[in-house]
Amino acid sequence: MRLRVAGAVLLAAAAYYVYLPLPSGVSEPWKLMLLDALFRSFMQASDAAHALGVCHRVHLLNRVVSWVEVVEARSCPAVNVTDTTLGGVPTRVFHPRGENKLRRGVIYFHGGGWALCSARMRSYDRLCRKMAEDLDAVIMSVDYRLAPEAVFPDQYHDALAASRAFLSAELLQQYGIDPQRVCVSGDSAGGNLAAAVAQELSSDDSLKVKFKAQALIYPVLQALDFYTPSYQQNQAVPILYRPYMARFWLQYLGADSSLEPLLLANNHSSLDQLAISATTRSKLNWTALLPAERKKNFKPVVKEKGSPGVVGEVPGLMDVRAAPLLAEKGVLGKTPKAYVMTCEFDVLRDDGLMYGGRLREAGVEVTSDHYEDGFHGCMVFANLPMMSSVGQRSVRNYIRWLDQNL
Ligand SMILES: *[C@@H]1O[C@H](CO)[C@@H](O)[C@H](O)[C@H]1NC(C)=O
Ligand SMILES: *[C@@H]1O[C@H](CO)[C@@H](O)[C@H](O)[C@H]1NC(C)=O
Ligand SMILES: *[C@@H]1O[C@H](CO)[C@@H](O)[C@H](O)[C@H]1NC(C)=O
Repeated sequence: MRLRVAGAVLLAAAAYYVYLPLPSGVSEPWKLMLLDALFRSFMQASDAAHALGVCHRVHLLNRVVSWVEVVEARSCPAVNVTDTTLGGVPTRVFHPRGENKLRRGVIYFHGGGWALCSARMRSYDRLCRKMAEDLDAVIMSVDYRLAPEAVFPDQYHDALAASRAFLSAELLQQYGIDPQRVCVSGDSAGGNLAAAVAQELSSDDSLKVKFKAQALIYPVLQALDFYTPSYQQNQAVPILYRPYMARFWLQYLGADSSLEPLLLANNHSSLDQLAISATTRSKLNWTALLPAERKKNFKPVVKEKGSPGVVGEVPGLMDVRAAPLLAEKGVLGKTPKAYVMTCEFDVLRDDGLMYGGRLREAGVEVTSDHYEDGFHGCMVFANLPMMSSVGQRSVRNYIRWLDQNL
C-alpha cells in the first residue's frame, strides 16, 4: 500500500514536471512536452553547476550532448563519410560512392545558439547522410568554433573560411562538385551563419564560383527586437524559450549576461539610442514587413527611453555579419535564390518571415515554407527517439526543394 502511494506521488510529481500547457495546433504535443522536460532538466542541472562554479553551463550541456549524441564518421554502402578540415575548420564530409561524375554540393552549418551541438552529432550526421543519399550530392557539415571560448566574429569567420575553401577550384575538383550547383545551408544559429556567408560571398567580385542557392531553416537573424509577434506569441513554447535566445545572443556577441533583462525589455533598441537610425529600424519593422495573419493583435514594444549606450557597448547588435536582417537591399539583391523555412510555434518565426520578405523585395526568388504546426528545432527531431511528424515532413520538403532548385 505504502509503495503504491509512493508510486502515485512520484508519478504525479513527474506528470507535474512534464506537463506544460502548449498552444493548440502544435504537432504532437505530448512528444514536445517530454522533449521539453528533458531539455529543462538539463538546463536546470547546468544552471546549478554554473552557479556552484563547477563548470560553465555550456560545457556541461555539450558534455552531455557529446556523450549521448556524438557518433564517429562511419561510411555506409552508399556514402563515404570522413572527418577532415575545410579552410582549417573541422568538417564532416558525406561523399556518395559510385561512378565518378560531377555532383551537386551543399555546405551546412548546424544549429545550437552558436554554443551547442556539433556536425558529429547523430541528428546532424543523419540529416546530412540522408541529403547525400537522396540528392546524390556532396555534403560538408562544418564544426565551427563555439561560445563561450569563441565569440563573434569567430563563428562567422570559421563559416566564411570554410565556405571560401568549399568554393575553391581545388576543392570542387577534389570532390567532383559541379561549380554551377553549390548551396549554403544551415538551421537556427547555423541559418544565421549561412545567411551571413551568402551575403558576404555574393558581393565578393573576386570569387569565380558563386552559390546557386541558400537554404535557411528557422534562422535567427536579428537581436534588436525581442517583441516581434512570434517572440510574444511563443515566449513560453519549448524548446527555445524567449530568455534562452537573449542569453545565446549575449554569449555570441561576447557581452555580459547581466544585460539579459535589458534585452528582454527592448531597452537596447529604445528610440533614444541614436546609433540606431530610422533606416536600420525600418529593416526590422514588423508592422510593415509582416502579413496581417502573423501580426494578429500583437502590439510593437518600442521604448522611448531605455538604457543608453548598450549598442555602443555591444557593437555586434548592429553588425550585419551577426544580424543579417540588417543588410542593405543592394546586398540582399545579390544573394542567391532562397528557401526560408519557418515554424508557427517558434520565437524566430518572424526573423525568417521578415528576411524572406526583404529578399523578395530585393528581387531574389524566395520559397517560403511555413509549418503551421512546427516548433523550433523540429527538423533535428525527425529521427528516433522523437520521430517528430512535422520534423519528418520538413526534412522531406527541404530535400525536395534542394533537388528541384540546385
Ligand atoms: C573515402 O574517403 C577517403 C578519404 O577521402 C578515401 O581515402 C577513400 O578512398 C574513400 N573511399 C571510397 C570507397 O571512396
Ligand atoms: C513601422 O512602419 C509603420 C507602418 O509603415 C510606421 O507607421 C512606423 O512608424 C514604423 N516604425 C518604425 C519604428 O520605423
Ligand atoms: C529600461 O529603461 C527604463 C528607462 O531608462 C528603466 O527605467 C528600466 O529600469 C530599464 N529596464 C531594464 C530591465 O533595464
